[in-house]
Amino acid sequence: MSIVLSGIRPTGNLHLGNYFGALKNFKKMQHENECYFFIADYHSLTTHPTPDDLHGNVRQVLIEYLAAGIDPETATLYIQSDLPETAELYLLFNMNAYKGELERVTTFKDKARKQPDNVNAGLLTYPSLMAADILIHRAHKVPVGKDQEQHLEMTRTFAKRFNRLYKVDFFPEPVAYNFGEELIKIPGLDGSGKMSKSDDENSAIFLADEPKVISKKVMKAVTDAGPTKMNSPKSEPVENLFSLMKAVSEPETVQYFNDLYNKCEIRYGDLKKKLAEDIITFIEPIRERIKEISANDAYIKKVVKMGKEKAHISGSKTIKEVREIIGFREFN
Ligand code: TRP
Repeated sequence: MSIVLSGIRPTGNLHLGNYFGALKNFKKMQHENECYFFIADYHSLTTHPTPDDLHGNVRQVLIEYLAAGIDPETATLYIQSDLPETAELYLLFNMNAYKGELERVTTFKDKARKQPDNVNAGLLTYPSLMAADILIHRAHKVPVGKDQEQHLEMTRTFAKRFNRLYKVDFFPEPVAYNFGEELIKIPGLDGSGKMSKSDDENSAIFLADEPKVISKKVMKAVTDAGPTKMNSPKSEPVENLFSLMKAVSEPETVQYFNDLYNKCEIRYGDLKKKLAEDIITFIEPIRERIKEISANDAYIKKVVKMGKEKAHISGSKTIKEVREIIGFREFN
């Protein structure tokens, strides 16, 4: 059984792209592996040193994780700052992390450009904190997107370096976990690119969106002037609507509109109307669960406590061994 770990920064509500890109697979994965899912609240300070509502954001992501099907009894679902052993491992990794290699990381360069007035040490050492997240549970597999591959590479570097420096075979070299062909690309509604919360707010459909909001967003989605030749290729915005439809609708529905498109008889208004309906139906059980869980503070509290305890069992074991390996030993 592999140890799988995944983390998400609490910077906003989860959307359909998060669902199809990760959450949907987590639901199955948790039964086949030893899974750790955590909310990276320490990490969020690298870009938002004084978050408006850190606690509320953490709570929301936690609720949405649960609503999407993560079972806190089966997997370990916890908040990063509830496992301070992570911070200790981060400190120790930083002692063997070099300025040059950290400065070369693409995400660091991007962030430094975006926030020139706040190029803080946390931003520079983001990869060592992420390595600590992963290696505190000695995880083997990390389901991440392309943008996180370099961070994972750094994690392997820190793991190998630790093993070499202290002459042990302690940390595994974690690899990216691919969901294989099941991974569906979820585009946004603004005509190009993938669904993202940072773009235009109408481009993403959030798991907590009310039906009316979903309809409004879908009806406003970018399209084109319509096909003029039979069987012509689709423009990106139209292809995107079909991709969304493939994710949430019955195959017959996709086929139906595809045939209309090929015959140049398609009316985008009809397609959008059906797409909105199907997204609403698809999201409904998740939205209902979000509401139910939100209203149940006692349950949330219980889940957080359980996650903290389970994460601590694994994390404290690792840090105890790391201390022993480096030479922080007890006096008898
Ligand atoms: N860097 C990840 C992101 O921006 C979040 C993250 C933090 C993470 N620690 C992690 C992901 C550990 C996987 C494993 O999305």
